[in-house]
Amino acid sequence: MLGLNIALKRSVLVACVSLSALSACGGHIDSPTQDAPTQLSAGAAATGDNFSAQVAQQILAAGGNAVDAAVATAFTLAVTYPEAGNIGGGGFMTIYMNGQPYFLDYREVAPAATSPTFFSQFSTADGKEDPQSSVQGAQAVGVPGTVMGLWTACQRFCKLPWQQLLAPAIALARNGYIPSQDSVDNYSGTIAADQGHPYPINLSEYFGGMKANQTFTQPDLAATLDRISSGGADEFYKGKTADLLVSSMTQDGGKGVISKADLASYKPVWRQPISFTWKGMTLLTAPPPSSGGVALAQLLGMKADLANTAFTGVPVNSVQYIHLSAEMMKRVFADRATYLGDPDFVSVPVAGLLDPDYIAQRAAEVNPTAISPSASVVPGKPKFHTTHFSIVDKWGNAVSNTYTLNGFFGSGVVVRGAGFVLNDEMDDFATVAGQPNALGVVGGDANAVQPGKRPLSSMSPSILLQNGKVAMVIGTPGGSHIFTSLYQVLSDVYDYNMPLADSVKNMRFHHQLPQGTVVYYEPYAPFPSSLVSELATRGYSVANSGFNTDVAAVQIVNGNPIPVSDPRGRGASVVAK
Ligand code: GLY
Repeated sequence: MLGLNIALKRSVLVACVSLSALSACGGHIDSPTQDAPTQLSAGAAATGDNFSAQVAQQILAAGGNAVDAAVATAFTLAVTYPEAGNIGGGGFMTIYMNGQPYFLDYREVAPAATSPTFFSQFSTADGKEDPQSSVQGAQAVGVPGTVMGLWTACQRFCKLPWQQLLAPAIALARNGYIPSQDSVDNYSGTIAADQGHPYPINLSEYFGGMKANQTFTQPDLAATLDRISSGGADEFYKGKTADLLVSSMTQDGGKGVISKADLASYKPVWRQPISFTWKGMTLLTAPPPSSGGVALAQLLGMKADLANTAFTGVPVNSVQYIHLSAEMMKRVFADRATYLGDPDFVSVPVAGLLDPDYIAQRAAEVNPTAISPSASVVPGKPKFHTTHFSIVDKWGNAVSNTYTLNGFFGSGVVVRGAGFVLNDEMDDFATVAGQPNALGVVGGDANAVQPGKRPLSSMSPSILLQNGKVAMVIGTPGGSHIFTSLYQVLSDVYDYNMPLADSVKNMRFHHQLPQGTVVYYEPYAPFPSSLVSELATRGYSVANSGFNTDVAAVQIVNGNPIPVSDPRGRGASVVAK
């Protein structure tokens, strides 16, 4: 009955499928901010690393707006953060520009030669589909969206020339940058795994020579970025880079299927961001094909409904806090698995899922004393990577951008001759209905592989508005842990009045279906043993998630931007006068 109720309240999402329909998408003026009055004391950015933070600062100081800085930051991370920063992946950008909200979906799509049974051809000795086949190698790659996404955002909003925005990334690729000991140590296992891999990968060819504290140059990538700088996005999708990418599908015996037609037809989509009222503020966040915005809004909404009952007097990160949150997270993951997918292919009942009555009903199902029963299979948790940055300019505009290769170094395939890593986003589809993917989450028909379809994401780049002005820009990498982490940070700041920096470094937990009695902690902040014992008493087991989320946020306090980077990652924050 519940499902029927939700299905009847069909989505109000407006998906804007062509660039010619821009006026209907976010629906307002496109002119950037040349004449807008300054609203903030400065611009600011919290980005994935120090190199990209410096570039964001330079672009903001040169008069660029938040989108200019976002484009330059994204290209820089493709050079200095190769495990997740990318031109071979895809992502989402939430924009607040001249007082209007926008959302750009530049998620990867499944190649035309795929089908719901595409991965059944890759089987293990026992005849079952090999879960590795959607994770590594050329057959795991979705048609990349990043370059067309950045180009499209820039065409609409940039003040500075495209070439100026690519120049810092090109210089870092050509002249080199100095990687830290930590990042080289972190990469070494993944890069060495080339040998004897069942699906050909070639990371060591491009990254095997990287040494800590020594200049690392990427001449092929520099040449690729140079071509994109002079030829625009068309060069990536129709030019020499496209030829090299198509050749990489079968390099070393690979079985990838991306064709020139797939690349030539790739289009980002302007969509209406989810706009959800929370504590008198407006949360702008990611609509489908992300599950993240729906999930984040459901979590914050349920918690608000329970604020004066179950949550009264419950301290942050106490056993009862974790139990109540886990009860809410279970319900979010049940909806995710059943209802969410690419809205251009399946009808996603967003309005029903965010209906206050429905959220109140789900909140009322939370059992304050016992674990609601669910299946308890616990798959492994490999290393994931995505990266997020949050930027504001002095005019009060904001960009919240999360983009990804999915896994750490994506599919492990580097386009030979072009020097960039390709994603393994096909694993975000439910390649077999009901079977957990590498993130341990399940899906059904709504998220089955189909040519041209976008895999369901959890990325949730978000902007919080108070009285029409930006109050916070926030996001994180972390797959299905993205929206549960953002829920915790936002609740810490706005329910418990915690300073943003304290909240970002606070211990975080995660709970999802089908692993219904497991509470995950992050390696950065393991649970104290007393909490582990208390959770065990309540019937939970505790597991290490195996990776950290990495929040990057900017809060605006009295007109001053306060950027905060997570101590879990190598992110950096800057203020630009
Ligand atoms: N690839 C992770 C996500 O999109 O959620």
